[in-house]
Amino acid sequence: MKLIMLGAPGAGKGTQASVLSEKYEVPHISTGDIFRANIKNGTDLGKKAKEYMDQGLLVPDELVVNLVVDRLQQEDAKKGYVLDGFPRTIPQAKALDAELEKQGAAIDYCVDVEVPDEVIVDRMSGRRVCPKCGEPYHHEFKIPKVDNVCDKDGETLILRKDDEPETVLKRLNVYHEQTQPLIDYYSSKGILVEVDGTKDVKGVTEQIVASLGEK
Ligand code: AP5
Repeated sequence: MKLIMLGAPGAGKGTQASVLSEKYEVPHISTGDIFRANIKNGTDLGKKAKEYMDQGLLVPDELVVNLVVDRLQQEDAKKGYVLDGFPRTIPQAKALDAELEKQGAAIDYCVDVEVPDEVIVDRMSGRRVCPKCGEPYHHEFKIPKVDNVCDKDGETLILRKDDEPETVLKRLNVYHEQTQPLIDYYSSKGILVEVDGTKDVKGVTEQIVASLGEK
């Protein structure tokens, strides 16, 4: 299964990608998590990416595309993947198409998780993430088993720097301008699945799985 998760920042792409990657036994590839790991490790890529991420801007396409192309060529990605946060611009989508063509592969579905902006702003203020695996939690909607500790690896959860309210609004604007056109792009390819992301986490997963099953 080869999936793309599309949606505004905070729509629940990461949450659903984590569930779907376990269900379909394919890797969860999050460009945001890859950049945050690079920032944590102080790499050159991390330093460059941080400049953009902290401002709520997209990292330039040329820094993202090669990274994803390399990742898709790894052995574990042969059987499929859930792409979370990529592509985010039309040039990125075209670069992905070119790589897939080389591999003789194709994306099965692009899942668009739809959530209105006002719900997003509320959600982001309550989000905490695992600094090690990137798993997102929420103090109301996805509570960890032990207070402020990741269920998967026991790390203390943190607030992401780009989750400050002002930066969230900037990220939403960037999403509407640069990423939303991908809805039409994948719709015209006949692989778009749209789900109501305002349902609870389980409800959103059920809609996605039902839609993939029907296709
Ligand atoms: P990235 O990490 O991809 O951030 P994002 O797209 O802004 O998405 P988020 O991770 O903020 O949200 P999400 O949709 O995954 O929601 P989540 O599941 O966490 O990218 C960060 C930055 O990196 C970008 O701004 C950019 O600078 C750079 N970048 C990354 N990829 C790039 C690319 N391809 N090109 C250029 N730059 C790139 O859920 C949010 C919260 O809501 C959580 O607390 C969660 O528990 C809760 N929640 C989830 N689902 C529900 C639900 N159904 N009901 C209630 N609460 C819910």
